[in-house]
Amino acid sequence: MHKSVIVVGSLVLGAVALGPLLAAAPDPAAVQKIVDARVAKYKQIGKANKAIKDELGQAQPKLADVQANARVIEALAKQIPSWFPRGTGQQPGVNSEARPIIWEQVPTFRQRAAGLAGAAHQVGAVAGTGNLDATKAAAANIGLACKACHDTFREKK
Ligand code: HEC
Repeated sequence: MHKSVIVVGSLVLGAVALGPLLAAAPDPAAVQKIVDARVAKYKQIGKANKAIKDELGQAQPKLADVQANARVIEALAKQIPSWFPRGTGQQPGVNSEARPIIWEQVPTFRQRAAGLAGAAHQVGAVAGTGNLDATKAAAANIGLACKACHDTFREKK
């Protein structure tokens, strides 16, 4: 009797200890969904960034369009950290370019996202003044902000 209580007790303890491990076992299909969703968002960022560059390459750029796209980038950039729940990086059965270092250097990753939001904010503000040269100069910082994050946190193709 006494012995079986101990056995049951240790089984329960074992289950309690294992529970979180089992719950954390990643389902590749579920992880891939999260990856696909963030890649789609990044493509929106890429599209807005290209629209800014294309507009600024015109003979008479419409700075209102540049401003609108800068605001799109700023809003998305602020969301970036929320697109990377722990456990959604590269792993078997998942196609992702998100390097493990993202979750080892979360504050730096957040800083890079904030860097992009700040650069985009600046472009929106400067475009609002109607100063084309200053807008072009500010826009160059958006590309640098992408690169600053990709160089460290995204797998090189
Ligand atoms: C804070 C970090 C960070 C910033 C800033 C950032 N990216 Fe990325 N980007 C990533 C990571 C990480 C991935 C890989 C996501 C994955 O595959 O799970 C990625 C993926 C992408 C993709 C998807 C590539 C594909 O598979 O087709 C595009 C497009 C992209 N980024 C464009 C940009 C552009 C353009 C900017 C700047 C305007 C930018 N990113 C800024 C981290 C960042």
